[in-house]
Amino acid sequence: MCNWKKIIFQTGIIAGFGVFFSCGNSGEQQVNQQKKKSQKNALSIIRNDDCLNCHNIQDKTVGPPYNEIAKRYETNNENIKNLSDKIINGGGGIWGGAQMSKHPFLKSRDASKIVRWILSLDSEEVLKITQIPGLSIQDLKDKPIEKGISFRFYSPENHNFSSSLPEIAESVSPLDELFVPQIHFKGKSVFSPISESFYLIAKGKLKIEKVGKYFFKMEKSGKGELSINNRVVISDSEEDQEIVLDLTQGSHDFSLKYLSSKGEETLSLQWIVPGDEYYSVIPVEFFE
Ligand code: HEC
Repeated sequence: MCNWKKIIFQTGIIAGFGVFFSCGNSGEQQVNQQKKKSQKNALSIIRNDDCLNCHNIQDKTVGPPYNEIAKRYETNNENIKNLSDKIINGGGGIWGGAQMSKHPFLKSRDASKIVRWILSLDSEEVLKITQIPGLSIQDLKDKPIEKGISFRFYSPENHNFSSSLPEIAESVSPLDELFVPQIHFKGKSVFSPISESFYLIAKGKLKIEKVGKYFFKMEKSGKGELSINNRVVISDSEEDQEIVLDLTQGSHDFSLKYLSSKGEETLSLQWIVPGDEYYSVIPVEFFE
């Protein structure tokens, strides 16, 4: 587990004060703010409330992950009503020992907007967004690109998940290296002609234009770890698949380590940018 989630929690509180201090605005400004508020999508309401202290989309934390809630309940008016009431009133007893806190200030309209979004997470339309065809190393070798994310493949003996930085001794030469436009590999022979077992180090820079909270998700069949600005943000553990980070404008170093799973491989790096509601594969234009 990493401590970034705690930092976000603290900045959340500071942001809360920001809202408090801005109450003295002129009437016109208040109306504008209200308008903006009512246009907020479900995920921005969640981002601005305390939900992320206890819930992730994918990972189990204090509360159940939202995609598990989506799998449990059908989308119908009764479930939308009951779950909205539960968020407002709090409570427990369904998912295990923990209790959800009350959210008496959440409007019931916003609560049902949130519930609709949560329940949409396992719908076909939403799942389709990340079911775009994966890349293959052979295709990239046939049509090499000159910029993008640097992929270096090493023999698996060189892997080291215990150090936080994916550094490998200068003296170790990679089995192969190339640039890739996206991290989205899914299937049996997507990494051929690289040997069946390998250790991969991917490095690049992410260009961030919109300041705000970014969700990152790493889907992996083998062992894998993601670092942003030289900090491990997604560790190699089954429960740790996603992270929410406050990113500033500019360029951010990222690196990823992956140890092949031999056979069916999945390695996909996805995000939700501020303003969006669903995961998508990070597109090429965001990599320097
Ligand atoms: C203090 C931690 C905490 C916070 C904050 C929190 N939740 Fe929960 N949430 C939980 C726990 C624990 C459960 C499981 C409760 C149970 O087992 O019935 C849960 C359950 C849920 C459920 C499923 C309820 C059910 O009956 O199946 C939804 C939907 C939900 N939370 C949404 C939210 C939203 C939206 C927010 C923010 C407005 C939020 N939660 C804030 C801890 C929290």
